[in-house]
Amino acid sequence: MEWDPAQYARDAAFVPALGAAAVEWLRPQPGERILDLGCGDGALTVKLRDAGCDVVGVDASAAQAAAAMARGLDARCCDGEALKFGAEFDAVFSNAALHWMKNPGAVLDGVARALKPGGRFAGEFGGRGNAARVVAALYQSLAARGIDGDEYNPWFFPAEKEYAALLAEHGFTVERMALLPRPTPLPGDLAQWLNTFATPFLAALPAGQRAGFTAEVRRALTQHLRRPDGVWHVDYMRLRFTARRAFGK
Ligand code: BEZ
Repeated sequence: MEWDPAQYARDAAFVPALGAAAVEWLRPQPGERILDLGCGDGALTVKLRDAGCDVVGVDASAAQAAAAMARGLDARCCDGEALKFGAEFDAVFSNAALHWMKNPGAVLDGVARALKPGGRFAGEFGGRGNAARVVAALYQSLAARGIDGDEYNPWFFPAEKEYAALLAEHGFTVERMALLPRPTPLPGDLAQWLNTFATPFLAALPAGQRAGFTAEVRRALTQHLRRPDGVWHVDYMRLRFTARRAFGK
């Protein structure tokens, strides 16, 4: 997934803003060395630095990593499924990024390797049922065109038990986990949200058909997601957790 930092800052600034609750679960301490996995443009990474932490941000998007560097952060472009750090972080943090990584086992291998023994992994991402109405409408409109949505779905939205089991398999002890419904108000129209977040689905279609497709999905969702005051709320479901890497793993 390639991101446009200017578009992200305009249409998705609520993502790092709403990540503050996940930072509270992390409880960053001054002097800790922390890896922000999927740091985006660094809007939340800056908060960790301001809390006195020594932070490294990584993002698979070169443009987003560059935007984070422009904030003066140590940010690197790197695939979250192929982390190469070795036992150097007190904590790994991730907000709104893990659901873009469809190989969670590879992610957890890298996170476990990156942590010092006893280090913690804390974060938040889309859990089971996240944006379920949007996903259903995307699948339905693709199916109407003879396309299987599964082939284009970029998201991993696990249930609590599924993610807890994956963490355990990778040597983590889950300390806290919750699946939280969080209907999320959008700063603009659902069409902008679709053009920012659902581009892998739009890529299933020739460029000339995408605007019509987006309008169709928007129409199907109006009665469910657009409130009487005109504000769109996407049916987010967040999986928030903290886990600790066992000593000796
Ligand atoms: C997100 O990246 O925050 C996101 C992606 C898909 C659905 C909802 C949110």
